[in-house]
Amino acid sequence: MDLNSPRGTADIYGKDLKYRNFIEDTAKKLFKNFNYAEIKTPTFEHTEVFNRGIGESTDIVQKEMYTFKDKKGRSLTLRPEGTASVVRAIIEHKLYSKRLPLKVFYNGNMFRYERPQKGRMREFHQLGAEAVGIDNPVIDAEIIWLTNRLFEELGFKNLELLINSIGCVECRPNFLKEFKSYLEPRLDKLCSDCKIRYYKNPLRIFDCKKTKCKEVVKNGPKIFNYLCDNCRKHIDSVIDYLKKLNIKYEINYNLVRGFDYYTKTIFEVISKQIKSAQNALGGGGRYDNLISQFGGPDMPAIGFAIGVDRTAILMEQLKIKPKCFNGFKKVYLIAMEEKSYPFILEISKVLRKDFICEINFKPKNLGSELKWAEKNDFGFAVIIGEEEASEKKITIKDIEEYKQYEFDWLTQKDKLIDLLKGK
Ligand code: HAM
Repeated sequence: MDLNSPRGTADIYGKDLKYRNFIEDTAKKLFKNFNYAEIKTPTFEHTEVFNRGIGESTDIVQKEMYTFKDKKGRSLTLRPEGTASVVRAIIEHKLYSKRLPLKVFYNGNMFRYERPQKGRMREFHQLGAEAVGIDNPVIDAEIIWLTNRLFEELGFKNLELLINSIGCVECRPNFLKEFKSYLEPRLDKLCSDCKIRYYKNPLRIFDCKKTKCKEVVKNGPKIFNYLCDNCRKHIDSVIDYLKKLNIKYEINYNLVRGFDYYTKTIFEVISKQIKSAQNALGGGGRYDNLISQFGGPDMPAIGFAIGVDRTAILMEQLKIKPKCFNGFKKVYLIAMEEKSYPFILEISKVLRKDFICEINFKPKNLGSELKWAEKNDFGFAVIIGEEEASEKKITIKDIEEYKQYEFDWLTQKDKLIDLLKGK
């Protein structure tokens, strides 16, 4: 009997949870700032939602879905991503019938049966946003800006934004014709999956991670060069807006992103500091035909999602520290002996109104207490020994700045609070 968590899943607690909570809190604030409202959809859907939404010949649908029959024999699937579910919900509840764009965000666990590695899990978490009903390239720029701002707010500095356009129903067939005639004499160089993709859905060959297929694709025609006037104008405007917003980008002509629903603008945020294939922290794009394919009105849309787990891992690797609750630093109250506790309780009663405080409930060696505080992201340590307790004095260490201050509790409380607030 195996009582460990299933392969590719994780129990998240302690420091790891702190990173994730910080990412979620930051994203939620930012989504609200950009006027996106939260939506929650079920963790599983009728399998058809993903088969139709994501596309029958994508890797996700072909190989990665957790699909099962319920007791009535209905085929259900644990959601591998959020967009198809959100679109299903928008149509079911006619959420598109109010002012457009409809702007929603979500946060939840997703499931893909992939080979687990660092940053690639079978149960993982995404934060995403979708904007429905507007085809103006301004909204493409807003979504990309939002993605960019999110990583900036989290403290990242050197991420890269890749963009591309994969055209529309008008221009894509022209490209695919060229692409297929380029591939035809090279079919023997492709892997067995890509040989099937050649017949079923050649665009998906761009998703293949195998070096030999990447080599073939690298020298072939690029969809960007086959865009119709409308798609070309659209991506040119998106690029102009990105320039206006001072957002750095790189056009990556081989970017297609493994979903069939995308049209026109697609983008991905990657970190070159991650040397594995798991270097994409987030991505998104336009999906102008998905809503009508689902039986809804003919309505354009665009969105993105970031991987919370991958982002948390990279923050930890790069030593990006989550800012503390309320933007204030956490305070560790260290009693040097039993007699310190009445004063410690008096201080914590005041400080806990505004700050996260923890008390050492068992007096120990000061050095090891300070080490523990530093390791656990406490910005300050208040040290109360016998003298401090009897004279109501506070010795406080700024752990990050390696500075120490003394305050008289009865007369300098406000000064102490200003210090903690960073004033
Ligand atoms: P995606 O690129 O498949 O896009 O996923 C978004 C992010 O989720 C990835 O960049 C990655 O950070 C994370 N992710 C994906 N798979 C895993 C995994 N197995 N383990 C850990 N993290 C993972 C989408 O899902 C689209 N629905 C995004 C979108 C929204 N497009 C339009 N609207």
